[in-house]
Amino acid sequence: MNRVLDNLCRTSQVLFTVGPGGVGKTTLAAVLGLQAALSGRRTLVMTVDPALRLADALGLGKVRPGRRVTISGRRLERHGLQLRAGLEMVMLDTGRSLAAAVSRQVASRKLQRRIVEHPFFQRMCEDLAGAREYAAMEELYHRLQRGEHDLVVVDTPPANHALDFFDAPEKVLQVLDRRAWRWLMRPALLAGSVGRRTLDFSSGYIVRTLSRFTGMKFLAELASFVNLFAGALEGLRQRAEHLRQIMRSDRSAFVLVAVPEHHPAEQALRLGRRLAAREMTPRLLVVNRCQPPAGALPGSPGWQEGLVRRLVAEEGAGEAAARRAVVALERGHRLQRRLALRDRRRLAALERQAEGRFPLATVALLEQDVHDIAGLEQIRRQLFAPAEARSAPAGREES
Ligand SMILES: Nc1ncnc2c1ncn2[C@@H]1O[C@H](COP(=O)(O)OP(=O)(O)O)[C@@H](O)[C@H]1O
Ligand SMILES: [Mg+2]
Repeated sequence: MNRVLDNLCRTSQVLFTVGPGGVGKTTLAAVLGLQAALSGRRTLVMTVDPALRLADALGLGKVRPGRRVTISGRRLERHGLQLRAGLEMVMLDTGRSLAAAVSRQVASRKLQRRIVEHPFFQRMCEDLAGAREYAAMEELYHRLQRGEHDLVVVDTPPANHALDFFDAPEKVLQVLDRRAWRWLMRPALLAGSVGRRTLDFSSGYIVRTLSRFTGMKFLAELASFVNLFAGALEGLRQRAEHLRQIMRSDRSAFVLVAVPEHHPAEQALRLGRRLAAREMTPRLLVVNRCQPPAGALPGSPGWQEGLVRRLVAEEGAGEAAARRAVVALERGHRLQRRLALRDRRRLAALERQAEGRFPLATVALLEQDVHDIAGLEQIRRQLFAPAEARSAPAGREES
């Protein structure tokens, strides 16, 4: 049982899984959510990754973004698991989350519609860098405010986008910083065309000049959008500030995920350092997909001949094929030992590089991809058995 991780699942209000692409962040987020719900916490696992992987890991098939889906207790019972609180998942729908955020900020329905139907708003949802990250933050904040969950596990985008994600509240604060607005408005203010109450950004010099060059009225759109949105700015600023505090407080924890290969391990450590610089030090590094040690081959002399005979007699194999199979078995075994040894060395190196800033936990490579509760449960047991195994009757293999 990993005590650090167990403790995080029991006490954190927000858990972020972070790391390079393809290392198992989504899988781990689902495992942590499962663990928390089994221990009695109402849990939501939220994925920011546009890939449909979370639903896949939970064996849910097709799930529409933006919809909360409840994992049924009955499905888990088939695996000998007893949910003690609700377990839900949701995949971020950028447009929906941003539209909901607007509705929460703007009282008038007419104004809400004008903003949401504004071409800039629509474009922002589709392709503005950071919109997804910002929407995720809004969604997270909203979920925490609602208080329907004891824990929200956030599965973040791969490393290179993860920082955008964690910087989103900061960026909002910067953008909303009064000085920045003043700068944007300055030409118009100087020209005396803007009154204090009616801020008409579209008449700003910068906006007019740049939009001539962009040729797609982008900035003019932005300006009229900002005009519509001005009333909501203070609310947004406060929320961004609040969320930034939550992310830096004990209520949130960051779990780094890596695999024992050189490049992703380096990337994960770098990400860990950058998070630490933002006062969001990871609590743990989970090294996933470690090659398990090779099982022993028979030690008796001449076992190969014995195996060939059995393959021929009992499996109906031709003698030549049986010999080839035994040779391949020995070669595979040697290879597996080498890989396991290499992973052990890399783990030791990672441990040194972590320099005691956070402990390491390992998860073994499973025989198959994780596409259902059974797969998640195998990983959960690696991290949380044996204490939990007492209440989970289905065959425990942990010693
Ligand atoms: N311990 C494991 N053993 C075997 N396959 C795994 C393990 N952990 C994750 N996987 C597989 O690795 C792939 C990437 O995992 P995923 O959680 O989607 O990574 P990420 O979210 O970091 O991109 C998936 O196909 C998943 O089934
Ligand atoms: Mg993922």
